[in-house]
Amino acid sequence: TKRIGILTSGGDCAGLNATIRAVALRARHGYGWTTVGLRSGTLGLLERPVEAVELDPDRLDAALARQGGTFLGSTNRGDPFAFPMPDGSKKDRSGEMVAGLKGLALDGLIGVGGDGSLDILRRLLAPSKVPFIGVPKTIDNDVANTERAIGYSTAVAVATEALDRLHPTGASHERVMVLEVMGRDAGHIAIAAGIAGAADVVLIPEVPWHLKVVVAHIDALRAAGRTSALVVVAEAAGQSDDPAEPDSDAPAHGVGDWLARRLSKATGAEARATVLGHVQRGAMPTAEDRLLAATFGVRAVDLLAEGKADRMVAWWNRQVIDVPLAKVVGRSRTVDKDGALVRTARALGICLGDKA
Ligand code: F6P
Repeated sequence: TKRIGILTSGGDCAGLNATIRAVALRARHGYGWTTVGLRSGTLGLLERPVEAVELDPDRLDAALARQGGTFLGSTNRGDPFAFPMPDGSKKDRSGEMVAGLKGLALDGLIGVGGDGSLDILRRLLAPSKVPFIGVPKTIDNDVANTERAIGYSTAVAVATEALDRLHPTGASHERVMVLEVMGRDAGHIAIAAGIAGAADVVLIPEVPWHLKVVVAHIDALRAAGRTSALVVVAEAAGQSDDPAEPDSDAPAHGVGDWLARRLSKATGAEARATVLGHVQRGAMPTAEDRLLAATFGVRAVDLLAEGKADRMVAWWNRQVIDVPLAKVVGRSRTVDKDGALVRTARALGICLGDKA
């Protein structure tokens, strides 16, 4: 019988607990294996002894599948190969982590993480010879070679609900309501929630936008009799340094507040910004995220049973597949600026800030 480990690494999101539960259930009931939950992500591998708990799937409450966060904890304080020390220096602590991992005598490890965490885990595991399978999770949905990462559906649902709530208050006060959503480098949450929540403007880093185009759009709406407007801006939309965008002095951080102030000044309308932040991460997982967690968790264990390693489970064309981790790490899947969602947004009259 085998003993496999599972850890969650990087930013939390909804659906992690459901993933852990699915792994433990599949390991026990599919193969008679034991699952060990490693606490505190990769950072936990520096503890001595490494904190690990045996997960009895029959005692894991089914309610876990409904809970946000990760009961194993998820901490990552930077790169183990250049670990930030209290004195400000950097130290390679990967050897200590590998030693911690070896001490657990695992026959395989499943790591739930985003692009950065999966890359780190893969490099850490390589010298240990412990087979490693990755499961993609991030509300940003930017992991390469998978159409879906765990947590994204929930983040979109939360952002959509926020728009549903901003609409009546914006309409009551005749205001421009700006919603800043997460997405460190990509606009997936913004474009999806913007369409689902019937926004008037969606600004994403993938489409270089111009303040004057947004202003003209809001002015046109007002001229046509609309008294309020909903604007969604991805947190990364301010980072654009595209030279084709002369009027972007948008800050890398706090783009929502900046935009509300600028729109108010330029249109004369009252504007307010809401920064949604971590509310998008801590929610109860949607049905879709729970399904993804279940199918990914089961498939990850099956891959270890098939003797596979260095692969990631992925969602592609309505199927669960697996892809080499080498094809995932170091690249990120941003919004296709000519893709279906962007075309849909344009077809609905949503302004993306690039053309009137
Ligand atoms: O990658 C997930 C994410 O939530 C991003 O959307 C966001 O930019 C970042 O993490 C926030 O990180 P932290 O929780 O460290 O503030």
